[in-house]
Amino acid sequence: MTAPIDATTTPAWAELAAAHSSFHPDLRGWFAADADRAERLSFPLADLHVDLSKNLITDEILASLVRLAEQTGVAARYAEMLSGAHINTTEDRAVLHTALRRPAGASPELVVDGQHIDTDVHEVLGRIRAFAERVRSGEFAGVTGKRVATVVNIGIGGSDLGPVMVFEALKPYADAGIEARFVSNIDPTDIAQKTADLDPETTLFIVASKTFTTLETLTNARLARDWLWAKLAEQGAIGDDEASRTNAVAHHFIAVSTALDKVAAFGIDTDNAFGFWDWVGGRYSVDSAIGTSLAISLGPDVFDEFLAGFHAVDTHVATTPLAQNVPVLLGLLNVWYVNFLGAQSHAVLPYSQLLHRFPAYLQQLTMESNGKSVRWDGTPVTTDTGEVFWGEPGTNGQHAFYQLIHQGTRVIPADFIAFANPAFPLVDGDRDVHGLFLANFLAQTKALAFGKTAAEVEAEGTTGPLVAARTFSGNRPTTSIFAPALTPSVLGQLIALYEHITFTQGTIWGINSFDQWGVELGKQLALQIAPAIEGDEAAFAAQDASTRSLLAYYRAHR
Ligand code: F6P
Repeated sequence: MTAPIDATTTPAWAELAAAHSSFHPDLRGWFAADADRAERLSFPLADLHVDLSKNLITDEILASLVRLAEQTGVAARYAEMLSGAHINTTEDRAVLHTALRRPAGASPELVVDGQHIDTDVHEVLGRIRAFAERVRSGEFAGVTGKRVATVVNIGIGGSDLGPVMVFEALKPYADAGIEARFVSNIDPTDIAQKTADLDPETTLFIVASKTFTTLETLTNARLARDWLWAKLAEQGAIGDDEASRTNAVAHHFIAVSTALDKVAAFGIDTDNAFGFWDWVGGRYSVDSAIGTSLAISLGPDVFDEFLAGFHAVDTHVATTPLAQNVPVLLGLLNVWYVNFLGAQSHAVLPYSQLLHRFPAYLQQLTMESNGKSVRWDGTPVTTDTGEVFWGEPGTNGQHAFYQLIHQGTRVIPADFIAFANPAFPLVDGDRDVHGLFLANFLAQTKALAFGKTAAEVEAEGTTGPLVAARTFSGNRPTTSIFAPALTPSVLGQLIALYEHITFTQGTIWGINSFDQWGVELGKQLALQIAPAIEGDEAAFAAQDASTRSLLAYYRAHR
């Protein structure tokens, strides 16, 4: 195991600390004095145009940040990851989500721990493609021969957030009349509501779980199976006997997992199961077989295009010098904000209604990856780590929480994501509504950067205490990420961008961004508390006073 380099001991960190001690951000002044700032700090990344110019950096600070990446071995660790080294030290695993999107026949062939990675990846992709085609054409049909109209993905965390986000984002591409729904929560409301109006004869469930042990997913899968059997029997489509039920499961359940033995034990035909591998983290798995619901509903060609988008960004990261390497630069900016300017959160604000689940998706990607207090060798971190990621699509957010970003007391770096072309070109009278939407994106980043001075407020006739209330400090950092349109490839590019930003930050902080031990304790305790809920007195007595008191409230109100 390579020991993490303590970023705080590097010369670059000292440079940044010195720069920060006399730092007076002045975006107005910087832009006024430097006609090239916007152009110099805008970078191409595959189809994306990434404008860093409204961030709180000077050329000197950016150069120190790049040196920080050099001195903490970002490039070397990236190379280690790509080569299949076991950089997920606590689970002793390789981290190879980038291999999921390597094109067929990529050279040199990737062989890791004796596994022919490229061959295996493309074998599964081929099976998914063939299965998706069969469902879309109606060749694979329900038990009564009816064509599938709805796929219901049952999964949670990385086995849910990616597929649901992508389905929502690319819905305009769903051309086969197949809807996708997503059940994740163990709150029974979720499955009850999502199945309420479904016809069991046209419903295909996908049980998606990397481990195939997750309580929520397996509980929901059993509930779905009971629902299927009961509804099909009610409609006279199957009998009550074992053979009919097995046959119904074969026609209405498929699975996605790394644990195909457990899939078989659940009763799902492993011919209808798609595997992946322990070197794919849950939150890095939307481009694996976990995306099967997408290949079916959006089509395998769309899925291929989506993967190609990821690969374009992977190629950029692997081949571009650090000073122009866009995901690395964005990761470095986040380090600057978190460790030097005290940012505790980071807003992601897509100007696209289709991306309404993107911030939620990024929350798992970034926070489950970098919400850590120990480094990959088990020693404590030496700086603050993982900031809170959050957001909502513009313009809705403008009318909700932007006030705090504009005039609050905290620095909140914000990423604005926008598209030149709309999915739905509508006009209001003679006005292009998408144009109006984009004017809001541009207006917000402008207001945040440049603010409004007291003199400007007064010049409009405002006097007295209202002047301060109407003054905007400006110097609120934003990054603008602009693309021609929200295509499958562009969406893959955006996801890969944030994966690599997360990796850069994790490396600088010395974190293993690929484990998630912090979620285990709650899972274990839930299993210990469940008997107390069900009336087991010994389990009740074993709880702490607060938990006992809450259990008593529950018992009194049930
Ligand atoms: O919440 C922890 C976690 O392990 C996530 O990392 C993962 O995405 C999720 O649970 C679901 O796990 P699985 O795909 O194994 O059901």
